[in-house]
Amino acid sequence: MAASPATLTDLLAARFGHPFEPLPGSVAASIDEAALRRIAGQSSHRRWSDQPVHDALLRTLAACALSAPSKSYLQQADIIAVQDSGQRRKVEALVPKMPWMRQAPLLLVFCGNGRRFRQLFERAGQPFANEHLDGFFNPAVDASLVLMNFMQSAAAAGLVCCPISVLRDQAAALRDILALPAHVFPVAGLCAGYPAEQREPNPRLALSATLHLDRFDDQGQAQAIEDFDRRYVAARQRHAPQAAQEAPQGWSQERVQMYREAQRADWGQFVRSQGFRTE
Ligand SMILES: Cc1cc2nc3c(=O)[nH]c(=O)nc-3n(C[C@H](O)[C@H](O)[C@H](O)COP(=O)(O)O)c2cc1C
Repeated sequence: MAASPATLTDLLAARFGHPFEPLPGSVAASIDEAALRRIAGQSSHRRWSDQPVHDALLRTLAACALSAPSKSYLQQADIIAVQDSGQRRKVEALVPKMPWMRQAPLLLVFCGNGRRFRQLFERAGQPFANEHLDGFFNPAVDASLVLMNFMQSAAAAGLVCCPISVLRDQAAALRDILALPAHVFPVAGLCAGYPAEQREPNPRLALSATLHLDRFDDQGQAQAIEDFDRRYVAARQRHAPQAAQEAPQGWSQERVQMYREAQRADWGQFVRSQGFRTE
């Protein structure tokens, strides 16, 4: 395991594969370097220690997460903490290829909730005038922000997480287990707990590929992907030399392999079955 880089700029350079200029003193003086290092050092974890997460901490983290901004202040995101052992077993059984989920002290499901918005109209005796794709998209974005906010709050409390979108492969079964009513849908699950290991952050595409100035420009994309493939393979050789030897593919080829067959092609149908209009 490589030693953690000393400064924020070192950490970013290691993650993005190119140097970052040090922040000028006056700017550096006002940043919370520890907070930024925590964000920049994010890693998805799939192993946890046995240490349980106190209920009071779960409620605190949920409240921090739900403090995220909310589109039009509609508050269209909810969190379901799956705590009952029977309920957990049912949810975990939906993803047998991820047995590590069972070890996580916390299992949460982040949901978009378009039901409450509609209830406001019912209470007001008004017809609901927003049956269109935006009515689905907004709760999905709100729930994603709450998920991210939960992960960052958890990191600040010493926990590590892994989002679980594979749960959506079995969206209808998950809906039935969690008793999700019409206009409520899962965005992602999340496993969380105290870490069992340290992880070196995974590399990311260079900023030249993902940070655009004034207008979109992806002329350098092919080069950026090629460079990233090389760094990705090198990182795998460091983390998991055995796996890297058995499957010495780059990031781009692996993603194509992963998505060679359509995944979750029935998601639109599920969303419509929950009452949303997608036009
Ligand atoms: C919305 C979302 C859903 C994800 N779903 C899964 C999942 O089902 N299973 C899994 O092992 N990882 C899942 N991940 C984690 C990604 O695989 C991970 O973020 C990616 O490999 C990059 O690794 P890093 O987070 O350690 O940098 C998910 C991440 C996001 C943002």
